[in-house]
Amino acid sequence: MAKLTGLKKIKTAVFISGTGSNLKNLIEFSRIKKSPISINLIISNSNKAKGLNFATQYKIKKKIFDFKDNENDILFLLKKDKIEFICLAGFMKILSKNFIKKFKGKIVNIHPSLLPKYKGLNTHSKAINNKDKFSGCTVHYVTAELDSGKIILQQKIKIEANDNLDSLAKKVLKQEYKLYPAAINKIFN
Ligand code: GRF
Repeated sequence: MAKLTGLKKIKTAVFISGTGSNLKNLIEFSRIKKSPISINLIISNSNKAKGLNFATQYKIKKKIFDFKDNENDILFLLKKDKIEFICLAGFMKILSKNFIKKFKGKIVNIHPSLLPKYKGLNTHSKAINNKDKFSGCTVHYVTAELDSGKIILQQKIKIEANDNLDSLAKKVLKQEYKLYPAAINKIFN
């Protein structure tokens, strides 16, 4: 991935499906002078995603695609808007091989587990049911194989005896807000 040169920020799209708290965090990060990225487009697969409100709040262009048979339209829009980098943030659809190939090495994702442990869904309940002592989050490159691309950064947290699904999810999410910007800085600086 090209390093950041001069003051030009890397035009970035964030893909979401739900609450969008990572999106909000990334938008705030992107607006720091030293941030390597600007967020120019928000894409959601659902018009019900709460995170879309941040597009309005921060005046960022938003688009909704169901990701069924319109990936070419999405690629067209990304090209038109000169998007160079994609952050998945709570995005629940699986991108096609063709899509990933078109953005090879330029799509990253945040996942709420210590990958390669617990790929896919329900990571927190898996960690609790297995009585794990640690959980955490991972930022990684997106490849055709789910949650398997090269790891950029990872943060470990301790699971306490009194942690439940809710408390663990909150603790991990709090770390996600630090990890995602740190991973982006690592990529571009
Ligand atoms: C986060 O835990 C993220 O790691 C996972 O989905 C959750 C999304 O939360 N992929 P939010 O929509 O960013 O609030």
